[in-house]
Amino acid sequence: DAADASSPLEEQHAGAGAAVSALPSNPKLFLRRYQGTWVLETWVPGIVAIQRGAFAPRRGDVVLASAPKCGTTWLKALAFATMSRGVHPPGAGNPGHPLRRANPHDCVPFMEKLFAAGGGGIGSRVMDALPSPRLMATHMHHSLLPASIAENPDCKIVYICRDPKDMLVSMWHFSRKIRPDLEFSDLFKAACEGRCLSGPTWDHVLGYWNASKASPERVLFLRYEEMLRDPVGNVIELARFLGRPFSPAEEAAGVAVDVVRLCSFEKMKDLEVNRAASSGSAGSSPLLRGVREGAFVNSSYFRRGEAGDWANHMTPEMARRLDGVMEERLHGSGFSF
Ligand code: A3P
Repeated sequence: DAADASSPLEEQHAGAGAAVSALPSNPKLFLRRYQGTWVLETWVPGIVAIQRGAFAPRRGDVVLASAPKCGTTWLKALAFATMSRGVHPPGAGNPGHPLRRANPHDCVPFMEKLFAAGGGGIGSRVMDALPSPRLMATHMHHSLLPASIAENPDCKIVYICRDPKDMLVSMWHFSRKIRPDLEFSDLFKAACEGRCLSGPTWDHVLGYWNASKASPERVLFLRYEEMLRDPVGNVIELARFLGRPFSPAEEAAGVAVDVVRLCSFEKMKDLEVNRAASSGSAGSSPLLRGVREGAFVNSSYFRRGEAGDWANHMTPEMARRLDGVMEERLHGSGFSF
């Protein structure tokens, strides 16, 4: 695609508004096409900055990767609670746990959003100040990641995917908060054509699927529906993968269960901070406070938290069509939804 920002000329100008505005767009969804993927227009400069080396890797980095509306918020909470359990016990006896005062997005930042903010300076400052091992998140396709993440033996990636039908319904509800006129049928059509946020969805999943097959010790591939079915088993696996397995004493004390309870949909949705009609969290770390801009209030990240809600929004015909598109694109990969 000649208009992608992958040419040297466009690279030179990328980051400047002019270069972003030269990329193909899907204005209805605030998207730009960048290196074969559809990304949020305002995040393009951050992606370019990261690709150009603005992100300085550190041993032990953990990147949580997902397409939007696939369980990112939940994964951020679970990974944060698991990694920090030594300092912040997740049990009910610790009412001051950061996740009881702050939205998960204020505990684990999106890298490309950080590097897009304030000319990129905020990104480096926040990243440098995060304590090791650092936890960060991205919606980037695997193909967009710099080698400092994708090929770094000291960096682990945890990916979460979700049935694209539920992802789409979730995305529609979310997008309507800032675009009330968005018709579900328009979003559906865009998704089938690969032009929705983080599309093409099949490429997003395949990139991480293939990476997890090639390097299972560096890329953990999770499914939202599997996590709903067996959250504790998945948290135990997550802890093991991150090099922080639950000790027999922790297992006996039910620490993994505590993590799951702390991060459960019902608990998180009911927290004052996540009910509040505000973005950002008063209780978040001073580092991340104020970094999130205010388009979406905290409550928008918690809707139903179930599998199968697509049936309330799609006809069987639509479901067959989207399933068919996915099957066709994923054929031969060894992966299916
Ligand atoms: P629904 O809109 O289907 O309810 P993301 O975090 O990637 O933006 O995804 C949001 C989806 O995850 C929403 O799905 C939301 O309700 C669900 N979700 C948020 N927190 C969750 C949690 N703690 N457990 C399970 N699902 C959660």
